[in-house]
Amino acid sequence: MRTQVAIIGAGPSGLLLSHLLAADGIESVVLETRSEEYVAGRIRAGILEQSTVDLLREVGLGDRLDREGDPHRGIYLQWPGERHHLDFVDLAGRSVFVYGQTEVQKDLVAARTAAGQEIHYEISETALHDTASSGSGTDRPSVTFTDRAGVAQRLEADVVVGCDGSFGPSRQTVPQAVRRTWEKTYPYSWLGILADVAPSTDELIYARHPDGFAMHSMRSATVSRLYLQVPNDTRIDDWSDDRIWDALATRLGHGQDGWHLTPGPVTDKSVLPMRSFVQQPMRHGRLFLAGDAAHIVPPTGAKGLNLAVADVALLAPALVALLQKDHPGLADAYSDAALRRVWRCTHFSWWMTTMLHTSGDPFDEQLQLAQLRWVTSSEAGATGLAENYAGLPIGY
Ligand code: APR
Ligand code: PHB
Repeated sequence: MRTQVAIIGAGPSGLLLSHLLAADGIESVVLETRSEEYVAGRIRAGILEQSTVDLLREVGLGDRLDREGDPHRGIYLQWPGERHHLDFVDLAGRSVFVYGQTEVQKDLVAARTAAGQEIHYEISETALHDTASSGSGTDRPSVTFTDRAGVAQRLEADVVVGCDGSFGPSRQTVPQAVRRTWEKTYPYSWLGILADVAPSTDELIYARHPDGFAMHSMRSATVSRLYLQVPNDTRIDDWSDDRIWDALATRLGHGQDGWHLTPGPVTDKSVLPMRSFVQQPMRHGRLFLAGDAAHIVPPTGAKGLNLAVADVALLAPALVALLQKDHPGLADAYSDAALRRVWRCTHFSWWMTTMLHTSGDPFDEQLQLAQLRWVTSSEAGATGLAENYAGLPIGY
């Protein structure tokens, strides 16, 4: 098989990249280990930044988002006895949409299927070859894999893009001597639930509480998504639905100023680890990395999907210039340009996480409260949070 761009991974990064490339006449083939249903069914975050929404609209992926997505002006930040609304529109002139990553994935699959995109699901033994090469003559990069029918395949391409998430093989292909990684594992996890109940709040609530962080998010007028900070070794079986709702009520301030949390049937629950990870460079020879393949952020602040979209928005025009016009400038600049935003969002996600989660250290607790008071009372403090949460423009 032969194509211009071999894309490993059919998550949001891989499918959006194939979509943007196709719009400019560049052909790609997408390779994915999981089934289409599995990829579409994974529950992930649900906040789209302004620039993500703008991009999806521009490339014809905004119809259902505009019909079913829910524009939000801001968030609540709270701690016992206090709840403050931060209005991103007033503060930073930008806002966010509540629209699940699951829905973005469905829209991408529908658009790529309608366009006849070649996607191989349920492949195995993905291996990258000759990605450090110049890409000319017999020296072309390729990806070998076993297809769903058990047949060994080789896909040759001008470039290979690793969109294969946090566990994929692409980033390991960058030689040790060239790559540099940074990693931080947080000493707590999130227990997340999805519940068939109308949200008890109009905007997302981020709550610091001595028992641990809690958050109230949502997916629609009838579906809520909530999270609790839990220890890293937490077994989901130890948390009955009643125990979860009780902890959420306490930490989110049920009864405080007349506010009530309404519980409902839990349809999904899982424990999510919290990690920051960055690998650079995001390009080596004819291999490019995008999305979770190059960086992971903890979920506080919902930057993961938005960062993946921002990577791909930079990478697509760079590959078009490289492959159609033989102009390498944007491709050469891709890694540094993408990493500037990656580190900004890595800092913001770390900052939100460490401001809101309890660590057990009484000194940390006072610093967190001092920071929360400043962010909720100073316009400069609030604007910094708003600008980062609603998202900096693509290309920042
Ligand atoms: N071969 C082919 N595909 C692979 C391989 C492999 N060896 N290894 C992993 N994959 C696939 C995974 O099955 C997954 O579907 O790559 C895909 C990567 O998708 P995501 O994990 O969704 O990563 P990305 O597209 O970069 O999206 C980033 O997803 O994880 C969230 O918080 C993150 O919201 C962010 C977004
Ligand atoms: C979610 O809705 O899943 C969500 C929202 C905001 C976050 C993290 C997760 O900061």
